[in-house]
Amino acid sequence: MGTSDVILVTGATGGVGRRVVDILRKKGLPVRALVRNEEKARRMLGQDIDLIVGDITKGSTLDPKYFKGVRKVINAVSVIVGPKEGDTPDRAKYSQGIKFFEPEIKGDSPEMVEYVGMKNLINVVKDSVGLQNGKLLFGFEDGTFTELAWGALDDVVMGGVSESTFLIDRNGGENGGPTALFEGTVSTANMGGFTSIRTKNFAKPEDLSAYEGLELRLKGDGRRYKLIVRTSAEWDTVGYTASFNTAADQWQSIRIPFSSLRPIFRATTVFDAPPFDPSNIVSLQLMFSKFESDGKLNPTFTEGPFQLPLSSIRAYLKDPITPRFVHVSPAGVTRPDRPGLDLSKQPPAVRLNKELGFILTFKLKGEDLIRESGIPYTIVRPCALTEEPAGADLIFDQGDNITGKISREEIARICIAALGSPFACDKTFEVKSVLPFSEPFTIDPENPPPEKDYDVYFKTLKDSITGKEALEQSPIAV
Ligand SMILES: NC(=O)c1ccc[n+]([C@@H]2O[C@H](COP(=O)([O-])OP(=O)(O)OC[C@H]3O[C@@H](n4cnc5c(N)ncnc54)[C@H](OP(=O)(O)O)[C@@H]3O)[C@@H](O)[C@H]2O)c1
Repeated sequence: MGTSDVILVTGATGGVGRRVVDILRKKGLPVRALVRNEEKARRMLGQDIDLIVGDITKGSTLDPKYFKGVRKVINAVSVIVGPKEGDTPDRAKYSQGIKFFEPEIKGDSPEMVEYVGMKNLINVVKDSVGLQNGKLLFGFEDGTFTELAWGALDDVVMGGVSESTFLIDRNGGENGGPTALFEGTVSTANMGGFTSIRTKNFAKPEDLSAYEGLELRLKGDGRRYKLIVRTSAEWDTVGYTASFNTAADQWQSIRIPFSSLRPIFRATTVFDAPPFDPSNIVSLQLMFSKFESDGKLNPTFTEGPFQLPLSSIRAYLKDPITPRFVHVSPAGVTRPDRPGLDLSKQPPAVRLNKELGFILTFKLKGEDLIRESGIPYTIVRPCALTEEPAGADLIFDQGDNITGKISREEIARICIAALGSPFACDKTFEVKSVLPFSEPFTIDPENPPPEKDYDVYFKTLKDSITGKEALEQSPIAV
């Protein structure tokens, strides 16, 4: 995580959320909290907390400008559940998590919070946190074509005679698929020596600050080309430029990190140019030139015809990819319709799913939205949450089979650890402490147990196990 990357905590006034905020702030990481009630949030989290006041069920309260700079999300929002008989102002009966109180939904329905709200939240953070497979700016993918308006820009503007075109070849791509072709003839006559294609300014500048750089999928010809990225809508302006080599006759992916782009104007470095701003990309240019910058020459330059098939340009995430959206869900979400379950041994929400507005059904639908979003994620499914301290030995599991209890403080730590771990990426898992409900967990506050290395657990997790398998196949004993 870069130090300026903002971590958004949603549900920040809840039992897990407020602990997440507290730990992140103690670690000195930049936090923004999404809350419904500003006064309550400032009282609970501190007057200086960076807040978005919004309600995820109401898309109109989630203005994208409030989410600028958010690179990671820990989502601890939940439909509000409480005892039918009422609770204390600080929700002590709900929070203790061990003694059973007949529950009911308070306020918005599970469908609104867990499904509609999740959809709204994913929509508003998607661009700023980034997608696992990157963002396609130009090219062919899964039968669709993402277009940019390219035009030739050759040395004729300076009296030269080079010329180039940019066209679509329906069958010239990899495996006979479509590709674009940058092709032409370059000549040094009349002091010339370059050809290029440049896009029109984008209708809306691209904010690619979630990404590490641009990846070009192309078939090389052994020559050295330049990519020029502009962050100003003016025509004759600094272009942030990187040269790259290609291997002859090979389809290859060339990655150009934003950090490698240098400010160049008419082949000369502009030392006092502002740093490259990936949040405001306005146009792209691809060039084959005799000239590098500052008097240097392109060692691969030859006059005559050239052809560069280019099938895509996409923004890519930094490797190794770590989760960008960590979501706290409950264990049990796949159990309400699971055949063969002994309901008497199940958590209350499984038994009472229907009475509680299909709470687990909509929590599972919300999880599915995350898994389908393309955002690198972790879904943490705790068993019953308690106010006990962190530090008990843990059991991580997958397949949605376990019951038990776990401390909210421990879950907050797990969520934060997941943000930094490639091993937690795209995993769904359950977690509980080894202790039964009947055994309280206490620690010596003077000598608390050390924080765990959660990677030890994350490394054991597998992709694509959610517990939904059990709905389709034979029941799993619980
Ligand atoms: N309770 C358990 O035993 C248990 C067990 C396993 C998993 N879990 C899961 O763990 C997660 C966190 O649990 P918790 O005990 O920390 O929950 P919690 O204390 O009830 O907190 C829920 C948070 O969500 C916020 N919220 C509710 N609706 C919202 C909306 N429309 N827009 C924005 N924020 C909204 C609440 O805001 P306000 O403060 O404004 O109300 C609150 O901050 C939940 O997803 C829950 O399903 C719970």
